[in-house]
Amino acid sequence: MNISIIGTGYVGLVTGVCFAKLGNKVICVDINEKKIEMINKGVPPIYEEGLEQVLVENKNRIEATRDYRYAIQNTDVTFICVGTPSEDDGSIDLKFVKEAAEEIGEQLRNKDGWHLVVVKSTVLPGTTGEVVLPLLERYSGKKAGVDFGVAMNPEFLREGIAVRDFLEPDRIVIGYYDDKSREVLRKLYSSFSCPIVETSLSAAEMIKYASNAFLATKISFINEIGNRSKKIGIDTYEVASGIGMDKRIGRAFLGSGIGWGGSCFPKDLNALRYWAKEIGEKIDIINSVIEVNRKQPLRMIDLLKKHIPNLNGKTVGVLGLAFKPYTDDIRESRSIPVVRRLLEEKAIVKAYDPKAMDNFKKVFPHITYCSSAVTVLEGSEAVLIIKKWDEFRRLDYSGKIVIDGRRVLEAKKTARIYEGVCW
Ligand code: UGA
Repeated sequence: MNISIIGTGYVGLVTGVCFAKLGNKVICVDINEKKIEMINKGVPPIYEEGLEQVLVENKNRIEATRDYRYAIQNTDVTFICVGTPSEDDGSIDLKFVKEAAEEIGEQLRNKDGWHLVVVKSTVLPGTTGEVVLPLLERYSGKKAGVDFGVAMNPEFLREGIAVRDFLEPDRIVIGYYDDKSREVLRKLYSSFSCPIVETSLSAAEMIKYASNAFLATKISFINEIGNRSKKIGIDTYEVASGIGMDKRIGRAFLGSGIGWGGSCFPKDLNALRYWAKEIGEKIDIINSVIEVNRKQPLRMIDLLKKHIPNLNGKTVGVLGLAFKPYTDDIRESRSIPVVRRLLEEKAIVKAYDPKAMDNFKKVFPHITYCSSAVTVLEGSEAVLIIKKWDEFRRLDYSGKIVIDGRRVLEAKKTARIYEGVCW
């Protein structure tokens, strides 16, 4: 098939590159000239495991452009993969989705023949049918379900391993407006052996939110159990193994620690909470999940103060700044509230992360950034382990108080005092 992808963030680019790998011809559309140039040279503008190789191997089937006209005229299916950031109040900002729908609509006005528009961006229930579809109709002057098709096909890609998640999904969700759209997406995904769930547009939208909310709930749940367990000397990882073997529960996402961050869970749970309010409903469980996650990283400071009650003037090392290992992304990273609290307590903060320091400097320009984890340890009385990078396992923590937020158990062997957050 000939496919266009609007937006080349990690979802759009990975989707485009993987569709090319499956034999389709792909045109990526973005407004960023630098990204376009890089993609056309076979260089991914973001880091994702395996992405560069797939891009290079399929270079003859993928190109990037700013030109919506060229992209829509030369393809049969368009995926909207633009970002849906949060407004200050937590509600979803649909600006980029609306702009994409308007541009596609305008181009459909002058296109002969049927075209399918698929929303892949994470949008709240009702958005594809009640916002995107009317905009497409208004700007194209054509009728959805007759002149063009509409579908919603959420993504479940984890940043960092998105290529693998795309190629080996647990399931594919096809929300469709009209039968022809469903048929085209069935055909596009025909080489996948996983189950395909076919739903209404808004059920597909809700599946995405409910998936992220449930995963975040599992983490907050195990952290709640973990905080209590720690108090009486239980290792929460033993508890997670024990309950995770029950097939109804599953072990995944029961990794206790200092909570969830990133560009998706926080934004999506806030949007869900805001949306519930808008439809006149309360969504208590989500409120609790968010609240547990807000407090969780600060437990590191409580544990630290057990050993150093007054942090004023004390040097504290922070290892790991990104929201998860193997990325430079610090969005909603749990390191942010931890460092903020350390500074409020007037501690001297030395930090290191193999990838994320440049991004962290934009938020905290005045802490000390070290060139290695070893340098963080020099002169620090205590060290907080925020992310599980392999190199943190091999350090000699002799003489230090270590507060471990991510279960780097090797640190226990050498540390003077070792405290795991939930173990
Ligand atoms: C998440 C979902 O996992 C994807 O399925 C979804 O497609 C994506 O959001 C999205 O909506 O686009 P991602 O944000 O990349 O993916 O990161 P995860 O690997 O899910 O981790 C999220 C946070 O949870 C991280 O801060 C991680 O450290 C934390 N986490 C994860 C735990 O604290 N414990 C765990 O057991 C697992």
